Amino acid sequence: MKQLSFNYQLSGIDREQFETLLHRLMPEIERIEHDRGFEYESDYAFIHLPFDEQTVYEVLHCANEKLDCNPTVLVVIGIGGSHLGAQAIHDALNGTLYNEKDVSPRIYFVDTVDTDYVHEVYQIVERELRQKKNILLNVITKSGTTTETIANFFIFLDLLKEYFPEQYHEHVVVTTDYNSPLWRFADEEQFTMLAIPTNVGGRFSVLSAVGLFPLAIVGIDIQSLLDGARIAVHQSLMDSTSYFDKLKINPAHPERSGAESKDINPAMMQAVLLYVYYQQGIRVHDLFLFDPAFESYGKWYRQLLGESIGKEYDADGNRVNIGITPTVSLGSSDLHSVGQLYLAGPNDRVTTFVSVEIPQEKIRIPQEADCLVGNLGEESLQNVMNAIKAGTERAYEIKERPFWSVMIAEKTPYYFGQLMQIQMMAIVYLGNLFHINPFDQPAVELYKQETRKRLNDE
Ligand code: PA5
Repeated sequence: MKQLSFNYQLSGIDREQFETLLHRLMPEIERIEHDRGFEYESDYAFIHLPFDEQTVYEVLHCANEKLDCNPTVLVVIGIGGSHLGAQAIHDALNGTLYNEKDVSPRIYFVDTVDTDYVHEVYQIVERELRQKKNILLNVITKSGTTTETIANFFIFLDLLKEYFPEQYHEHVVVTTDYNSPLWRFADEEQFTMLAIPTNVGGRFSVLSAVGLFPLAIVGIDIQSLLDGARIAVHQSLMDSTSYFDKLKINPAHPERSGAESKDINPAMMQAVLLYVYYQQGIRVHDLFLFDPAFESYGKWYRQLLGESIGKEYDADGNRVNIGITPTVSLGSSDLHSVGQLYLAGPNDRVTTFVSVEIPQEKIRIPQEADCLVGNLGEESLQNVMNAIKAGTERAYEIKERPFWSVMIAEKTPYYFGQLMQIQMMAIVYLGNLFHINPFDQPAVELYKQETRKRLNDE
């Protein structure tokens, strides 16, 4: 089966420490293997998502039914884990200019309560409704009570009721936990409902109906997304403890030696590398994305790492205040803004470069460009991007800035499913190494409670 390729640069990594940490993860792999038998009845419930054929059936059935009504606009209302994953995959695969193309339905993501943005989307929806077009709302909230989501949902629901006083319920799909307050409301209103498995947390839910439904509506092949994720699960449960023995040493550049991707467990590798660098005082993880359409994917990962590992207490209740700060950089734009800092400033970040491997021949630079910059004419833009990326990696090596690279052979759902599942598994392993619970977010709950108090006081 096709796999992502990884290239690790291991200078500054002590083999003994590295192997000890890989061995420390083996009991966690055994626990996951054991718990997989319980499907959704386990802390690792998200690992079952790619294998859940029933959900895929329900999502596709619901998507086809709604598409039969030819909606021209889909509004996805949700925030955090209920929004970032779907937008990540949509932007990466459909492109950030999707709505400018000749497509139907167009898609708008509404997350925060920004008056201007929400009002603009509202006007877009209202224009469609005035023209007697069909629209679809997908409200997504696991708890069913998140302030921003509920506020935005009722604004759009009100609009729907104005134009479809009898049939507004046909234009709404609610994705939430079974029996959440929103679930009960939706049931009374006869909205179509898709359930989020109780033990699957928001930031681990992209491959549940949370991500699958809106993605199916905008034409993403969700079966292929899940195919990739299933491969990633198998890869992420492999024993990689003898990784160093599999290394193919490159005599000219020992620091650039690597193993074949199929021989390694990339989730374990990512967790151990982040942990080792953390111990060395390197506490920022930068995702350096050499495709601007991957920016939303960077934001999805930012939540995954930030919320899962940023913890005040460890699993035994000791105050630890640990965390790795996730940052997102875009190639090549950010080389012209923060490249100087990254290469010359404090050596406090480890970088993962993510790029698309196969040069796409979509657009070429005219020959005349050579009169200003030699060897540029007739190149494809993708080749130029790839050269910049290779040049950047070399600069990082020269400046001894730690990194590893992930190459995506093609921008397809299959590879994105694989990539995102590997990263979710890596976060579980990292949580294990830090001895913290990667699945909770008590501090986020705190801000939610405090917000509600203030709203209630008014
Ligand atoms: O990862 C998480 O659990 C959170 O970030 C949630 O996704 C976010 O707060 C939104 O919550 P809900 O889906 O309940 O609206």
